[in-house]
Amino acid sequence: MDTALAVPDARLHASWAATLRDFGETFPHGSGLDPEDPPTLDAVGCAAFAADKRRCADPAAGLPPGMVSCTYFWLLELDEVVGFLAVRHRLDDVLLEQGGHIGYSVRPAARRRGHASRALRLALAHAGGLGLDRVLLTCEADNRASRRTIEGAGGAYEDTRAGRRRYWIGVAGAGEPLSAVGAVPGRR
Ligand SMILES: CC(C)(COP(=O)(O)OP(=O)(O)OC[C@H]1O[C@@H](n2cnc3c(N)ncnc32)[C@H](O)[C@@H]1OP(=O)(O)O)[C@@H](O)C(=O)NCCC(=O)NCCS
Repeated sequence: MDTALAVPDARLHASWAATLRDFGETFPHGSGLDPEDPPTLDAVGCAAFAADKRRCADPAAGLPPGMVSCTYFWLLELDEVVGFLAVRHRLDDVLLEQGGHIGYSVRPAARRRGHASRALRLALAHAGGLGLDRVLLTCEADNRASRRTIEGAGGAYEDTRAGRRRYWIGVAGAGEPLSAVGAVPGRR
């Protein structure tokens, strides 16, 4: 089983929509979805959403105040979207306390196949390419799946703040930023 990271792209519309539907009422972490302004799940909505997410990775994009630049990826199994992952380019005060650099989620139907673990490894390479030398990951203390994902990637536990476990993972010189539209395969 492979996992790839793809830059958001409307060509992936059908499985992107199916994945969002699969989350139901639960939030798709790392998707960049705004619950107050959800996208329509048709092709037009997907194209607009994908373009907006790609723009967030551009440091020159002029993001709204309070937002940090962020690379959004869609997790692919073969050519189908099965999840989401976000790499924030820096931490603000809230991210330092709670959110961390990287957030992710895998659609319920595709969990426990190693996607989060492989995607995190690819994301660490991307973070290294952005010039980060370590990244912060956090999870709710009772989120066993995310905790194991982070610890499996070598996360060094620092502390728990407001119920969230905080881990650092060193990424110095880990790779190049993934900027092209397309897939980057990763094997477990
Ligand atoms: C957390 C999440 C992304 C894991 O995705 P996944 O693709 O199923 O994870 P993997 O298959 O790579 O498994 C990673 C580790 O978690 C363990 N794991 C996965 N699901 C688990 C579960 N429900 N209970 C206990 N352990 C679990 C796996 O066994 C594996 O550990 P191991 O390598 O020691 O065996 C997924 O459960 C999810 O999307 N949850 C909701 C969103 C979320 O919590 N995101 C993180 C926000 S902090």
